[in-house]
Amino acid sequence: MTQPWWKTAVIYQVYPRSFQDSNGDGVGDLIGILQRLDYLATLGIDAIWISPFYPSPMVDFGYDVANYTDVDPLFGTLADFDALVDAVHAKGLKLIMDFVPNHTSSVHPWFLEARASRQNPKRDWKDPAPDGGPPNNWLSVFGGSAWEFDPRTEQYYYHAFLSAQPDLNWANPAVRRAMLEAMRFWLDRGVDGFRIDVIYHLAKDPQFRDEPPNPRFEPGMEPYQSLEHIYSADQPHVHDYIAQMRAVIDEKPNRVLIGETYLPFDRLALYYGKAGQPGVHLPFNFHLITTPFTPRAIATLIADYEHSLPPGAWPNWVIGNHDRSRIASRVGIARAKLAGMLLLSLRGTPTHYYGDELGLSDVSIPPAFVQDPWEINVPGLGLGRDPERTPMPWDRSPQAGFTRGLPWLPLNPDWPTRNVAAEDADPNSMLNFYRRMLALRRAEPALQCGSWQLVSVDDAHLAFAREEAGRRLIIALNFESAALGVFAEKLNLGPLILS
Ligand code: GLC
Repeated sequence: MTQPWWKTAVIYQVYPRSFQDSNGDGVGDLIGILQRLDYLATLGIDAIWISPFYPSPMVDFGYDVANYTDVDPLFGTLADFDALVDAVHAKGLKLIMDFVPNHTSSVHPWFLEARASRQNPKRDWKDPAPDGGPPNNWLSVFGGSAWEFDPRTEQYYYHAFLSAQPDLNWANPAVRRAMLEAMRFWLDRGVDGFRIDVIYHLAKDPQFRDEPPNPRFEPGMEPYQSLEHIYSADQPHVHDYIAQMRAVIDEKPNRVLIGETYLPFDRLALYYGKAGQPGVHLPFNFHLITTPFTPRAIATLIADYEHSLPPGAWPNWVIGNHDRSRIASRVGIARAKLAGMLLLSLRGTPTHYYGDELGLSDVSIPPAFVQDPWEINVPGLGLGRDPERTPMPWDRSPQAGFTRGLPWLPLNPDWPTRNVAAEDADPNSMLNFYRRMLALRRAEPALQCGSWQLVSVDDAHLAFAREEAGRRLIIALNFESAALGVFAEKLNLGPLILS
């Protein structure tokens, strides 16, 4: 039986501001992505997920959407988008869009209407608490109260993220209808699926109860972690909303629904849905980002995840994204290749972050250049996301071939040597390693869809097997610089395929 494409695919995340600028304004755009499709196709990935490019005031760099059915002029036009979808498909690749249904921008016409008067039908705000303060103690992920007071109408509105990102009320059927229509708009234009932003935030406790303090909270942690988010996120009725999205996805063949889900495995498993209430195909598994990069911790993680999956659920793994420190910075450049081999040999759909195939590190951003509102709101805790969003370095030409103008964030300081052209020419580069590994994954059904089995683990090594139709591959990962030595001898390995 042939598998749905998203089971065997490798997903490549493009942060559109930083991939390729085609018009010299220093910010990447859709035509830029189109110009670099050959690179992506020959790299050997299968699907491109592009972070938001909707019209937006860009307070949260596009995750504040002012219009769900258009393209921001900064990124291009709908015609550019149509050209991009066609070109992506002509290369045999898939295109996944980011969809941001939890909140709009505060300049979205719906919010402007809601803000206009207490009587507006689009308004669903809350009165102050008896002491005049916010309706409850919920916190914004980006710092401070999640409630914004409007002195003119003396009510509060809720924003899980910035005050410029008011939450939509998914309990209102008109909201759901409008959002599902927006999804259809892009499906009709040919997108192959969506990555749904903070999908686990969509449903809120109907009584808006106060959240309890988090007993594990310690000073120095992000302030948002001071509460246990048992009422503001991951509510049981979210699965009903997701089933409605899934029904839209299923109106057309071969589309995928992915959810952004920062959750422990037992909660994550629920996002696959159940009989009569299907969920997303892939609830993003971010645990490789948050687990210590040691053989034992990873072996336990894989076993726990495999064990948590409901029957028929397809696993997935993410090792980096636009919100988290880059893998080369988290584990060190020496072990970044190992991390790539791990990601591409685990069972399940891998999601790869642009630039990780070059071994890009986080780029330190001088205070005067900080862009990310999270760093501006909650400074000094290392929460800022600019370091992992810097431009893709393509070659040795000015600004690394990313733009003719001034890049919106600084380039990686090592760009003259760490760029696509330089790594292309070096057989031992990270880029060529990724190409070989991606080609191997494509050629080996055992890697694409084989079973997973732990073979051996110690303090410095991890070995597991992937097996399909009688072909068994051993992946032996050495977390130390010393040779595999005795560990390899004990494994009784067959011929070496890739090192
Ligand atoms: C998601 C996005 C992040 C954004 C937030 C609010 O976590 O990945 O970049 O800031 O949602 O939309």
